[in-house]
Amino acid sequence: MYDYKNNEAIEKVLIDSETIENRVKEIARDIDRDFADKRLVMVGILKGSFIFFGDLVRNLTIPAEIEFMKVSSYGSGTVSFGEIKVSLDIGREDLSECDLLVVEDIIDSGKTLSKLVPHLAKRARSVKTCTLLDKPERREVDFSTDYCGFTIPDEFVVGYGLDYDEKYRTLPDVCILSPKVYL
Ligand code: PRP
Repeated sequence: MYDYKNNEAIEKVLIDSETIENRVKEIARDIDRDFADKRLVMVGILKGSFIFFGDLVRNLTIPAEIEFMKVSSYGSGTVSFGEIKVSLDIGREDLSECDLLVVEDIIDSGKTLSKLVPHLAKRARSVKTCTLLDKPERREVDFSTDYCGFTIPDEFVVGYGLDYDEKYRTLPDVCILSPKVYL
């Protein structure tokens, strides 16, 4: 177990690594079952999903292809749809025979996925979504994810890929950040 005693930025562990590992295996079994007859392309949304994505794909037993995207609701990007900017797109043009599973670390306001999914649905045979964490209290647009690891309260969480100001992504557990850090 990671030692947080000397890390004043971390208030407490919300979901420990063993619990995450077990849930990731369950989700992988669901994906194995649901995509058995499909052409699965896993699409990781950078950067927050990178650890979840890696763990999830390693637990799949069906064949899967891998792509990445980087999107943000601000800043500069090459393609823009709605309020979302795409700074790294899927690295192939033709997705017409692909069944995409978009993998996110967290769904918060829902803006990112609610804009991204219709955009990808125009290009692919099908699009589903998988998020490790869901914060329903923060939702601003109506969107629900097809696969979800954990529903969490409205706390600022870091670790297992999630950051605050680019820090804490490498922590093994999902942790609540101390308000001292951001207030
Ligand atoms: C986070 C997360 C989602 C998005 C969710 O990304 O990874 O992409 O915000 O929020 P929403 O539901 O309110 O749209 P972030 O912009 O923090 O980038 P990162 O993944 O690189 O940390």
